[in-house]
Amino acid sequence: MSARIRRVGVVGGGRMGAGIAEVCARAGLDTVVCETDAFAARQARERIARSLERAVERGKTDRATAADALARIAFSGDLADLADRQLVVEAVVENAEAKTEIFGALDKIVEDPQAILATNTSSIPVMRLGMATRRADRVLGLHFFNPVPVLPLVEIVISLHTSAEAAAEVEEFAVTTLGKTAIRSQDRAGFVVNALLIPYVLAAVRMAESGFATATDVDAGMELGCAHPMGPLKLADLIGLDTVASIAESLYAEFKEPLYAPPPLLLRMVEAGLLGRKTGRGFHIYD
Ligand code: CAA
Repeated sequence: MSARIRRVGVVGGGRMGAGIAEVCARAGLDTVVCETDAFAARQARERIARSLERAVERGKTDRATAADALARIAFSGDLADLADRQLVVEAVVENAEAKTEIFGALDKIVEDPQAILATNTSSIPVMRLGMATRRADRVLGLHFFNPVPVLPLVEIVISLHTSAEAAAEVEEFAVTTLGKTAIRSQDRAGFVVNALLIPYVLAAVRMAESGFATATDVDAGMELGCAHPMGPLKLADLIGLDTVASIAESLYAEFKEPLYAPPPLLLRMVEAGLLGRKTGRGFHIYD
């Protein structure tokens, strides 16, 4: 267990933020989840409670341990409640402006100068977020995968300013305390996993868009032909089509390669509010 990091804050209680908080609480850490207001904070609590219930049903934990984990998480509508945290993980919407503002605020609020400010961004340069603070050496990417309680990987993203000590400390925390497997990436849009995954998902969207194959057949092809747990369009629906489009835009802005350009169908679906599982309809329909 990490010697130093015992008090963790998570900014954002959506699917990723809630998952990160759940994993921290299940590792025995004192955890605060910060949302924009009390209503959103309540929704985050319900999200975590549902996931813990699922973990109990699946035999991953028992009811008492799950209840203890939930009790270890405080929910707040005020960033100021993160003042005494030793690690804060930002996991808000994939928007550079919103994230930059949060890092500027966290820099003023989090008191311990040795605290680490991490971002769960998938594609926004970590350097840019570090530059919004006066401690860019303590800012890095700590990128989890959805669903966070299930997938074992984290990417540790090191900006040009991140100190070797901060990177080593977070890696040790991710591995020893959270029980995750860590890989390291330099600070390039998409890091390792999304730089490979997103062009594949976009190729699947183009196939469906051109009428080359149906969404169902594209997914069946990869599930049954390549043993992927879910096909690329189901996966896009799980990630959220707005998030897929944002990551694609960041990759395209960084590398200017056509394979990263979001196809028109994806952009139209986002505009139409067909964002995947979270809105009940994306490439597939959900109850
Ligand atoms: N806590 C702990 N374990 C849980 C759990 C929870 N809340 N919920 C489910 N599980 C466990 C189950 O017990 C089961 O474990 P076993 O295999 O040991 O029995 C496992 O998770 C699978 O659960 P289910 O059987 O309920 O679900 P499933 O078999 O239908 O799988 C899935 C669902 C895990 C989502 C699977 O389809 C999958 O892995 N899909 C791919 C997801 C993926 O690629 N994610 C990456 C997205 S990219 C990203 O996140 C990064 C980004 O920046 C966009």
